[in-house]
Amino acid sequence: MKRPLEMAHDFLAEVVTTEDIVVDATMGNGHDTLFLAKLAKQVFAFDIQEQALEKTQERLNQAGMTNAQLILQGHETLDQFVTEAKAGIFNLGYLPSADKSLITKPHTTIEALRKLCQLLVKGGRIAIMIYYGHEGGELEKDAVLDFVSQLDQQEFTVAIYRTLNQVNNPPFLVMIEKLERYRHG
Ligand SMILES: C[S@@+](CC[C@H](N)C(=O)[O-])C[C@H]1O[C@@H](n2cnc3c(N)ncnc32)[C@H](O)[C@@H]1O
Repeated sequence: MKRPLEMAHDFLAEVVTTEDIVVDATMGNGHDTLFLAKLAKQVFAFDIQEQALEKTQERLNQAGMTNAQLILQGHETLDQFVTEAKAGIFNLGYLPSADKSLITKPHTTIEALRKLCQLLVKGGRIAIMIYYGHEGGELEKDAVLDFVSQLDQQEFTVAIYRTLNQVNNPPFLVMIEKLERYRHG
């Protein structure tokens, strides 16, 4: 069985082409930025920590990738840089190797999700990896589940991929797809 992060990558890889602009909303150590850079025309990657930009730049340099723009700003400002996107990924929580108090927060996560849903092209997809074992994680998980559950079913399909028998709050995946055609009725 695929792990949730593998599932997230496969879900995005199915639709992203070298013509597409995509978003990594939580750059961290740059694993997802590199993954997306190999698939897309351009990646806009966000993080609020300088360390994330350094790590990610290093990773991209090693792979010889030059098509990612690394932005030291919160993902809630993504509409200042991106006008449309084919895909986006969120890896919520904290950066394991850094300050564990610098976590993603419900308010800004939802603002970023709302903006990304708006500027997603038809057929576009968003993958949200939800880590919620840390303090504050449970609140963010509930806020995200609440937000995505209320997306209009005529415009989006939302699904969840989650193990049911693992201990210690294992991360799980929320998948959003913007429908090609508005569904009537
Ligand atoms: C779980 S880590 C991301 C891991 C990353 N995807 C990787 O491949 O290594 C979460 C990241 O979100 C960042 N973050 C927290 N609040 C943010 C915000 N408002 N906008 C963008 N990034 C944020 C943290 O600094 C942290 O690096």
